[in-house]
Amino acid sequence: MTLPTFTQANLSGSIVLLRGDLDVDLHQDGSVVDTTRLDRLSVTINSLLSMGVLKIILIGHQGRPEGVDQTFSLLPLKNYFDKITPTDFLPHKPIDVLFETFDQISLSKSKIVLLENLRFYKDEEEGGVSFSEELAGFAEYYVNEAFASSHRQHASVYGVAREFAKNGRAFFGLNFASEVQNLSRVHEGSRPIVVLISGAKEDKLKHLSSFTSFADQVLISGKLPQFVHEDSLRDPKLVVAQLNPDTEDITLKSMEKFSEIVLSAATIFLSGPMGKFEDEGHRQGTKTVLSAIASSSALKIAGGGDTTEAIRMFGLEKSFDWISTGGGASLEFVALKSLPGIEAVLGSTS
Ligand code: 3PG
Repeated sequence: MTLPTFTQANLSGSIVLLRGDLDVDLHQDGSVVDTTRLDRLSVTINSLLSMGVLKIILIGHQGRPEGVDQTFSLLPLKNYFDKITPTDFLPHKPIDVLFETFDQISLSKSKIVLLENLRFYKDEEEGGVSFSEELAGFAEYYVNEAFASSHRQHASVYGVAREFAKNGRAFFGLNFASEVQNLSRVHEGSRPIVVLISGAKEDKLKHLSSFTSFADQVLISGKLPQFVHEDSLRDPKLVVAQLNPDTEDITLKSMEKFSEIVLSAATIFLSGPMGKFEDEGHRQGTKTVLSAIASSSALKIAGGGDTTEAIRMFGLEKSFDWISTGGGASLEFVALKSLPGIEAVLGSTS
């Protein structure tokens, strides 16, 4: 699937609302733990600047705050964007005076204006229509470079995109388009296609039937074997790992079984570590299966924060064909071949 990016439009001299994946872990001193998401966003920022856009209004979220909570502020990220070009940060404004932000943006001499965490407004997660319209009123064009958040129907990835799409002013960022192009390869890849769904969150099993409908084998591990319904166990495509008694890793037998299956795969999609790899004592399953994946000649695509961390820990980044910046979003995209944030930009929502 190839998506329309902003490079197809003439944005020179215009104001662009750019939705980024700004949800990154920070050290205590405010520095960013892993800049991958921001580095990929900066490619789009640099491209917009070299096109001659007048101003980029950068929006996004951090964590899951309950209302205004400065521990989730986006202010620490200003340092990162200052290195691209001097950036203004606009603190949170109560919703009834949000319109004043427009004047502040107009008065700013900076090329990038970073707005405070949008999740400080309840309307962001509720996808409020008037909130979306107000944000859309700040700019002439919209670019979604927040793949990792685009499985949500939140205002900044859904409602706002729908507003701009009404008159063809919504586009995707460069990383977003690459994410979709690369993750689509899971469906287009040679058979056997093997999908590994692991990790701790039960909701990762939400799309299990979509995976079993197109993959040749679906392997389940991490904490998830505890949540698989008995009905699903009858599906011959499903291979569910056995867990050690403490449930923090898979058994040696399951490691061997998983390794054997991935070594015979032609296409592999991995979402989640096999066990609690952060602890040395529970690392073996993840290490064994990741090493087997890395040594296979299959097309290898992975997604998610923990998955990326584990791949890095074992120095296997170069063995993968694509590592997605999205966790829940990459899993949902591979399952359903689309996301709410994609449909909104394409104007295909009703
Ligand atoms: C992510 O980090 O994957 C995205 O920012 C989504 O965050 P959420 O699960 O809080 O919506």
